[in-house]
Amino acid sequence: MNLLVTGGAGFIGSCFIRHMLKKHPDYKIINLDNLTYAGNIENLNDCKDNSNYKFIKGNICDKKLVRDIISQVDCVVNFAAESHVDNSIKNPEIFIETNVQGTLNLLQASKELGVERYLQVSTDEVYGSLGREGYFYETTSLAPNSPYSASKASADMLTRAYYETYKLPTLNTRCSNNYGPYQYPEKLIPFFISKLLKNEKVPIYGDGLNVRDWLYVYDHCEAIDTVLHFGRVGEVYNIGGHNEKTNLEITKLILSAMGKDETSIEYVKDRLGHDRRYAISNDKITKELGWKPSITFEEGIKLTIKWYLDNQKWIKSIENKKASLV
Ligand SMILES: NC(=O)c1ccc[n+]([C@@H]2O[C@H](COP(=O)([O-])OP(=O)(O)OC[C@H]3O[C@@H](n4cnc5c(N)ncnc54)[C@H](O)[C@@H]3O)[C@@H](O)[C@H]2O)c1
Repeated sequence: MNLLVTGGAGFIGSCFIRHMLKKHPDYKIINLDNLTYAGNIENLNDCKDNSNYKFIKGNICDKKLVRDIISQVDCVVNFAAESHVDNSIKNPEIFIETNVQGTLNLLQASKELGVERYLQVSTDEVYGSLGREGYFYETTSLAPNSPYSASKASADMLTRAYYETYKLPTLNTRCSNNYGPYQYPEKLIPFFISKLLKNEKVPIYGDGLNVRDWLYVYDHCEAIDTVLHFGRVGEVYNIGGHNEKTNLEITKLILSAMGKDETSIEYVKDRLGHDRRYAISNDKITKELGWKPSITFEEGIKLTIKWYLDNQKWIKSIENKKASLV
């Protein structure tokens, strides 16, 4: 298979490329990424000499480039996105440009060039916020609350429309919060670890009781691989860990792993439009395709914290890059 992976220099995309090159050694993978602040090509240092892997620096909104690349592949997996909710609250435009316009561009080229499968990677945030009980199902109405989740929901709707209108063989996955190595240190777990390493306090939004479902990034990649090969076209598949934790619980785990106590917490003003609870049912992907998480939260969080502690140089190099951009 010849595969285009967009956004492959980011947190999940790089894990997916590493996973695919290992699991399917005969596949050829092109990684299209324009290396925004969140993209880091060094995340794939261990793959760069693989003759089945090629990196192209470019934007998914570039029509000509996207057409040229898609004419060389059988399938497309779209990870490329602006992915940080806080940034979307401050600057929504780029979220519409990349997440909506960029997706449209990929769908259109995929339709015109007749790809075998197009997989849109999305998030449980498109469903909005839950009360104390219940789960998001694939049939749950979309009710995004942030500009980020609204842009992802729009991309999901375009994906659906390309299946319904043009019969483009699309697949759409919606996953809960990922954690693991190589996550840009703006997201909760690596951000808090990097703060604590500098003996700074960790800022918790509101009362810290917002609930998220957490899935180890490797399990997300394995699920996408499964859906890409065996999913039914035109379908949405939820992916989750059945692992609901409050932000405060996650913070306390990190504090204890790093020998700190709760005096390192600073409660800050809540995020605007902050969703209270996400919880996702993975019944469909488990029953239909046999996927289930392989790494327990207890194992995954230990591996993750250890990775960041062992790879402080990686965090430092990102912080240096950030400082040089200011
Ligand atoms: N992180 C999570 O917990 C999570 C959960 C569910 C779904 N998702 C989705 O998974 C995907 C990947 O998330 P992530 O956490 O790895 O994000 P990330 O921010 O770490 O990586 C995004 C990558 O996309 C690239 N990119 C951004 N704009 C681009 C453009 N216009 N053209 C080409 N490349 C561009 C960036 O350079 C970066 O390498 C996103 O679509 C996100 O919505 C993320």
